[in-house]
Amino acid sequence: MTGGAGYIGSHTVKALSDAGYRPVVLDNLSSGSRQAVRWGEFVHGDIRDLSALREVMTTFNIDSVIHFASLIEVGRSIVRPDLFYDCNVGGTASLLRAMADSGVGRLVFSSTAAVYGHGDGSALTETSPKDPVSPYGDTKLACERMIAAHAKAFGLSTIALRYFNAAGADPGGLIGEAHDPETHLIPLAIEAALGLGKPFTVFGADFGTPDGTCLRDYVHVTDLGSAHIAALQAAGSLGPFDAINVGMGRGWSVFEVIAAVERALGRPVPHQIGPRREGDPAILVADPSRAREQLRWTAQYSSLDHIVETAVRWRLGAGYKVTRDISSRPDVQRPVDDQVSI
Ligand SMILES: NC(=O)c1ccc[n+]([C@@H]2O[C@H](COP(=O)([O-])OP(=O)(O)OC[C@H]3O[C@@H](n4cnc5c(N)ncnc54)[C@H](O)[C@@H]3O)[C@@H](O)[C@H]2O)c1
Repeated sequence: MTGGAGYIGSHTVKALSDAGYRPVVLDNLSSGSRQAVRWGEFVHGDIRDLSALREVMTTFNIDSVIHFASLIEVGRSIVRPDLFYDCNVGGTASLLRAMADSGVGRLVFSSTAAVYGHGDGSALTETSPKDPVSPYGDTKLACERMIAAHAKAFGLSTIALRYFNAAGADPGGLIGEAHDPETHLIPLAIEAALGLGKPFTVFGADFGTPDGTCLRDYVHVTDLGSAHIAALQAAGSLGPFDAINVGMGRGWSVFEVIAAVERALGRPVPHQIGPRREGDPAILVADPSRAREQLRWTAQYSSLDHIVETAVRWRLGAGYKVTRDISSRPDVQRPVDDQVSI
């Protein structure tokens, strides 16, 4: 599991371990945490390091790969596309090479709704037009196409899961969302309600939606874990490459999310209304029919209140100290021992 020390990866490690798999994480800790890997083996390494990948695959007799490792911040991808192409596209090329060299034939790839770009406001199916609006989305679409070509040419079984908005935390409170910088709505709203973090801005309340704010499709991260298990089991039966949306098929507005955070914490989320951000579509919602039909996957934990309650529990709990190896982040000017309390 490349990137298994990150947010979605660490929850999927737990899901796999609970289901009887033996996960092995390879992560360079550029944004993940060693302490998030509680249920599997951990190897400190980079996906661009071909010999490290080959060694892990041989040493642990790897059967399948789940590929989470990626740079993910959309805004950063606009100012440093070089880093995103190097890590996301270069890293995926190196991973495919190592899999071929080691005879590993099954891959589940973390893709994203960002491959669709703006959409047209209706629920997005896998065949909706692909038109990313950021270098981040471009790199993810490039990875999908590279994986599809390799799968066809070299007989691999691969699935790209296009996640919409991952949210929430493991109900046990031991692992959760710990991005730095945090750009996701729910943790930022929780911070604002607790009087921590930056002032909270709603970017636009004049969209053509019922309350004027953007609608997004939130999936609990525990449900994402079970989607990966279903994808591992289905890979191979669907063809060399398949792309499948992982979403709920309904959107929650920014104001609805704020109200859920206020319910969970019993206090207001102070916020201001700002201008729209460039490139923010009004509505991004999945059509999850294929996930239901092809993966037999249904979400169990993705009600908005459960998502927010588990995110709050994680934020109020002990959390963990995140020690990031920023030597692999050349654009981040901070001391290597910088620690962020989560
Ligand atoms: N969080 C979301 O809502 C969301 C939505 C759609 C898609 N995704 C995709 O899901 C995946 C995981 O996202 P996340 O939110 O868990 O992000 P994250 O930043 O928490 O996790 C990414 C992990 O990859 C590791 N990593 C980065 N570059 C690496 C490299 N070169 N070598 C080895 N490890 C490396 C990081 O240290 C981190 O542990 C990403 O591929 C992302 O594009 C996330």
